[in-house]
Amino acid sequence: MIVKRATADSIKEAARLLRSGGLVAFPTETVYGLGADATDGKAVARIFAAKGRPSFNPLIVHVAETAWVKPLAHTDAWFDKLAAAFWPGPLTLVLRRRADCAASHLVSAGLDTIALRMPDHAVARGLLRATERPLAAPSANASGTISPTLAQHVADSLGDKVDMILDGGACKVGVESTVLDISGEVAALLRPGAVTAEQITSVIGPVDHAADANVSALKSPGQLASHYAPGLPLRLNARDARAGEALLGFGVSPGAALNLSVRGDLVEAAANLFAMMRALDDAQRFKGMAVSPIPATGIGIAINDRLKRAAAPKP
Ligand code: TXA
Ligand code: MG
Repeated sequence: MIVKRATADSIKEAARLLRSGGLVAFPTETVYGLGADATDGKAVARIFAAKGRPSFNPLIVHVAETAWVKPLAHTDAWFDKLAAAFWPGPLTLVLRRRADCAASHLVSAGLDTIALRMPDHAVARGLLRATERPLAAPSANASGTISPTLAQHVADSLGDKVDMILDGGACKVGVESTVLDISGEVAALLRPGAVTAEQITSVIGPVDHAADANVSALKSPGQLASHYAPGLPLRLNARDARAGEALLGFGVSPGAALNLSVRGDLVEAAANLFAMMRALDDAQRFKGMAVSPIPATGIGIAINDRLKRAAAPKP
């Protein structure tokens, strides 16, 4: 079996695989990532092939230390402040690539920018340190499907397309990182996540909410309207289930098939979101999914963003 519990030994083995061009799925605090050596163009190309991902979609590059950023990208005062405030953690920063950036151009999908983040997870950072390379890692799922928050989800979605899956248990945040573009004159929020716009504003001042507009589909191609899609049709802001539907509840929700958080806790709901959508999909008893209203505050903004995309018509 390619799923291995994350230990000092399996992390070393995974690092060897990565250094020789392999693909390793690993846990982060947000979701599982499908990792490859970001400096190895062929290895990065294998990520796109394994995910069936459109090649114009750029990838996030993960680093173990802030010092790893300097050889890759131009940094400025905004970067210093944001990294000090939120790294390690679920904030991805889009920066201008250095001319001599060692990362493959494929991670940037032809853009002159690169997205970087330092994950807040002992296994992820242990793997980065053991590999001694920045790792390109999109979410470890087939393109357009729900992101994995358990090793088993990765095995179900990608199977033997990966060389190894490091099992580090459930991801505690559960939705992908906030993506903030600080490569231009204004800081632009391209994808909402656990680090909120308010928190970012308190560190660097106002941010532009590109994620609200379709602009972000161009600036951040991962933000296609239909993304994170479950198999079943999804109905949002539902008070109860219609015939054949499974209700995915939030707070007190009588009749819910599953509940994101009975006590109405948004952090708990985010951690449960993708695993519960998968469980309802897999149950094969339902014609559709209805989701209770989720308050649009804090990480609730990211939850609503993912739900809206999951409900969008598929291309
Ligand atoms: O939480 C996460 O960010 C997870 C874990 C594994 O770290 N990774 C993840 O990667 O969600 P992915 O590839 O599924 O999403 C990357 C997002 C996409 O929306 C992509 O368009 C955007 O980041 N992105 C990457 N590079 C970019 C760039 N140079 N400019 C603008 N957007 C970029
Ligand atoms: Mg993804």
